[in-house]
Amino acid sequence: MTETSVLYYGDNLAVLREYLPPESVDLIYLDPPFNSNATYNVLFKEPGTGEQSKSQITAFEDTWHWTAEIERAFQEIVESAPSEVVDLMLSLRRAVRENDILAYLTMMCIRLLELKRVLKETGSIYLHCDPTASHYLKIVLDAVFGKRNFRNEIVWCYSGGGIPRRDFPRKHDVIFRYTKGDEWVFNPEFRPYSEGTLKTPRHSLLSGGRALDLEKGTPVNDWWADLPRLTSYKKNEWLPYRTQKPEALLERIIKASSNEGDTVLDPFCGCGTAVAVAEKLGRRWIGIDITHLAIAVVKERLKRNFPEIQFKVVGEPKDLAGAKALATQNRYQFQWWALSLVGARPYGGGGKKGKKGKKGADTGIDGFYYFNDGGATKKAVVQVKSGKVGVSQIRELNAVVEREKAEMGFFLTLEPATRPMIEEAAKNGDFKDSFGSKYPKTQIFTIEELFSGKEPDAPQKLPVFSLNTTACNAAASGRK
Ligand SMILES: C[S@@+](CC[C@H](N)C(=O)[O-])C[C@H]1O[C@@H](n2cnc3c(N)ncnc32)[C@H](O)[C@@H]1O
Repeated sequence: MTETSVLYYGDNLAVLREYLPPESVDLIYLDPPFNSNATYNVLFKEPGTGEQSKSQITAFEDTWHWTAEIERAFQEIVESAPSEVVDLMLSLRRAVRENDILAYLTMMCIRLLELKRVLKETGSIYLHCDPTASHYLKIVLDAVFGKRNFRNEIVWCYSGGGIPRRDFPRKHDVIFRYTKGDEWVFNPEFRPYSEGTLKTPRHSLLSGGRALDLEKGTPVNDWWADLPRLTSYKKNEWLPYRTQKPEALLERIIKASSNEGDTVLDPFCGCGTAVAVAEKLGRRWIGIDITHLAIAVVKERLKRNFPEIQFKVVGEPKDLAGAKALATQNRYQFQWWALSLVGARPYGGGGKKGKKGKKGADTGIDGFYYFNDGGATKKAVVQVKSGKVGVSQIRELNAVVEREKAEMGFFLTLEPATRPMIEEAAKNGDFKDSFGSKYPKTQIFTIEELFSGKEPDAPQKLPVFSLNTTACNAAASGRK
């Protein structure tokens, strides 16, 4: 049986192949990168003030190029996909050549084939995209799921954001809905009739010979203009994840195409909107994301929204060997994961440079740990090291703490700390909070100690990804 209520860290292609059996999922919602040629940053607000933070972290890049990996994926499609898919991909290659759009479509095609495998015969798939690539994605979907299984092109309209000077403002996304077989779950949603219809004399209210049911209303159309885009004003929902979608959008999709107890899969889950809504609506769920940034946000979101929730995270290091492997594979992913162990918020450009090109490493700060001191938000600077460590790094941390006017400094290390490091940390004395309690100003944690449950010795920790402390505290204590 498929495990549900599981978050997977990793590339969804590998996760789908390793963990998900055929026909195990009732509904798939995917909101992949759109081929927008953009670098998506996770935006943070400073706790307490709500000010936009200068720290931006590149969560993922939405830029595709023809690489050896994409060529391998293309060959795999040619060798093993059904003939309609192979024909389409070969024709596209002839038409557009090995350019970025074909790289993107190859990446999507190989995943859509896998998603079709895991979808039940009665299942549905919703692919969320925008006009940058929707026309190409539709033909790939037609080839993979079959033209006759195309059910809707949903146009989600919204307002807000930038206005171009020489074009009509682009204010909609496209959501393709396909089913897998001839029978599928569909629970129509009804909306009230317009004022005009309601004022029309009753005897003339006929549609296709049938009287309109004024009480029930009329089915929601395939264009949705009643679900506003999420902004930071929606404080109890907004998270610092640029591509976050509103819960109301996912509620509509999940209610329409699944029933309680069904399994919902989001293979590009980002900050976890689909999984959080699935949980709220009594569905089982599986979320996959390729960055520890996203996994950390989803974990906090789920724990904050559902204090009693039980779920599993697969793909995170579970022991020292796993942590070492992650550090060798990708030190930024290691850094983000390690920060999540103490509940610290990542800081700076981590990894590839964002558009504005600010690198966390230059500042000597990898993250901040925020805590509540008698109603005031205070912070500790956090540094993460995966290589050799020595006493000079503790001195550097102390200097950064001073420069940043932080109260404490936390040093997270994969390698054991040396005696001089421990002595140097001890020399730094204590931070005294507003009630007079003392906490060591410099604290060292080995990853091994964090695995065995060691926690920062600090006043009440504040949630990592929330906008302002009042909202967080309310949410953390279960109030909305
Ligand atoms: C557009 S965002 C999804 C946003 C999401 N719907 C939400 O409401 O937060 C796309 C996500 O896909 C993830 N991603 C990109 N490529 C991936 C892959 N190959 N496997 C798993 N996740 C991937 C990115 O890290 C990013 O979080």
